Amino acid sequence: MSKPKVYITRKIDAKYLEPYQDQLEVRMWEKEEEPVPKETLYQEVAEADALFSVLSDAIDEDLLAKAPHLKVVANMAVGYDNIDLEACKQHDVVATNTPDVLSETTADLGFSLLMAAARRITEAADWVKQDKWQSWAPFFFAGSDIYGKTLGIVGMGRIGEGIAKRATGFDMNIQYHNRSRKKDAEERLQATYVSLDELLETSDFVVTVVPHTEETDKMFNQAAFEKMKSSAVFVNISRGKVVDEEALVHALQAGEIQAAGLDVFEEEPIEADHPLVGLKNAVCLPHIGSASVETRTKMIQLCMDNIAAVVSGKEAITPVS
Ligand code: NAP
Ligand code: GLV
Repeated sequence: MSKPKVYITRKIDAKYLEPYQDQLEVRMWEKEEEPVPKETLYQEVAEADALFSVLSDAIDEDLLAKAPHLKVVANMAVGYDNIDLEACKQHDVVATNTPDVLSETTADLGFSLLMAAARRITEAADWVKQDKWQSWAPFFFAGSDIYGKTLGIVGMGRIGEGIAKRATGFDMNIQYHNRSRKKDAEERLQATYVSLDELLETSDFVVTVVPHTEETDKMFNQAAFEKMKSSAVFVNISRGKVVDEEALVHALQAGEIQAAGLDVFEEEPIEADHPLVGLKNAVCLPHIGSASVETRTKMIQLCMDNIAAVVSGKEAITPVS
């Protein structure tokens, strides 16, 4: 009997797929960083029972209409704003994501960005690299303290809680905003629930980890930045589209806020000549929140396990509802 066919939209080393080779026939796009061209993807999904996608692949009606045998799309990300869930339902395709396995790694990156932006780490490191360091001076690259300050987390979910856990080690005063209160987290993390406006007005650090939805689209706009303290550091590790980037550039240039740490952008990859990339007070990273070898390995395994389950008639392990 022929094995179910899986198509993977990025190159993945064969050693990660070996455990599944008896069960599944795997084909993949052979380039690691270059996205699969649409025509190739459409040809491949015509035969596929399962698709292993990444967050920049659009899983929409156009694609699903070309995939008559498709039973599952396993997205190698916890976020799934690249997937049209309604179209998946119409085509009887299960969509899965990779929650939990990446939470701590992404929280590490979020906290690193917070620290890098507050303490001007990339700016100072560039100074040394460019051979500009001449002497020590009292306020040379002076940034902001982190310990004891007020942290506002917008999106106190799995990753948000990870950020809060790290902040407790810095004796931070933790406040958060969600649509719903999490009383257990408030107790565990000594966190206070506040309205979004109060969070923006009173936090020294504003970190966003909400999913991108219609409701969170451009949630951080001119009005939001105007409410923040002029000394505030803004960190986005959620999705670029939750921020109005033009408003953020203005806020950073006009001194409405002090600095930003950004892992995600409205358009990815962001162009090198984008105003945000040129700003000294913005630390910009290429969407590497979950990028540790350990975590990326777990994410691949979870995607493959989800695929193996669905194509053999079992329930998906982490379906997106
Ligand atoms: P999660 O556990 O579902 O947490 C999301 C939180 O956001 C929830 O607490 C939710 O609470 C809150 N939320 C949702 N809509 C909201 C709204 N309109 N206003 C206020 N709060 C809202 O998800 P997670 O695993 O922590 O992941 C969160 C997001 O991080 C992902 O969706 C993804 O976009 C992003 N992410 C980025 C990277 C990266 O590489 N940079 C890595 C992983 C994840 P309520 O439902 O109560 O509102
Ligand atoms: C990464 O951005 C993810 O959603 O996992």
